[in-house]
Amino acid sequence: LAEKTLRGQRVLITAGPTWEAIDPARGLSNRASGRQGFALAQAYAEAGAEVLLITGPTHEQTPAGVSRQDVLSAQDMLAACQQGLDKATDIFIANAAVADHRPSQFSAQKLSKTDIPNPLPLSMNPDIVSALHQDPRRPRWIVAFAAETRDHLAAASAKARRKGADVIVVNDITSVDVGMGAADNACSVLQGERVLHIPRCSKIDLARHLLRHLSSIFSLPG
Ligand code: C5P
Repeated sequence: LAEKTLRGQRVLITAGPTWEAIDPARGLSNRASGRQGFALAQAYAEAGAEVLLITGPTHEQTPAGVSRQDVLSAQDMLAACQQGLDKATDIFIANAAVADHRPSQFSAQKLSKTDIPNPLPLSMNPDIVSALHQDPRRPRWIVAFAAETRDHLAAASAKARRKGADVIVVNDITSVDVGMGAADNACSVLQGERVLHIPRCSKIDLARHLLRHLSSIFSLPG
């Protein structure tokens, strides 16, 4: 049994894709499975933390001891996260693959083929990491994720600064058998100039490894 080294720590995790509806039948999304975020929720719960998992549509099972809230859109995910901050949050882990855009109009009636505007007008979604960073109730630590295909360390470190994340976990998504939608994952963890590479392993092993590394960065036990 894992030792409950993180008892008393409150952790907020986002996971999965978001769903940006066009009408009741159609929408924009991406191929995130939610698996890595759920594995992180499991690892933190096993370590005794109080975990709130806010997730977009996924087939994953809720890990034991985790409070789960299901959402669809990025706007709903942001609202749920902001509500989550009502309880002081120690660690925010933004693992969700949030859609950058949503259709500007939602039609409550299903549109006919010819009624779908082409091109489809899009609006930018709010950035959840930036919003929580700027919130007066900012979590003590913010961990973002980045899936990159080129110059991935430099791109990710710029992203962390832009969004206000303390740490960014970078996935190189050019390989098909790791990362998004795959069973295994590998990543680099960046905190300022400090870089740790976690080689390919299962998503639960990676979650446990990441937890230990983050705990050492944040000077927490575990
Ligand atoms: O900019 P990009 O989507 O690559 O950044 C990825 C990181 O930002 C992830 O941690 C993701 O959860 C977060 N994000 C967010 N809100 C958005 C877009 C991304 O919190 N609208």
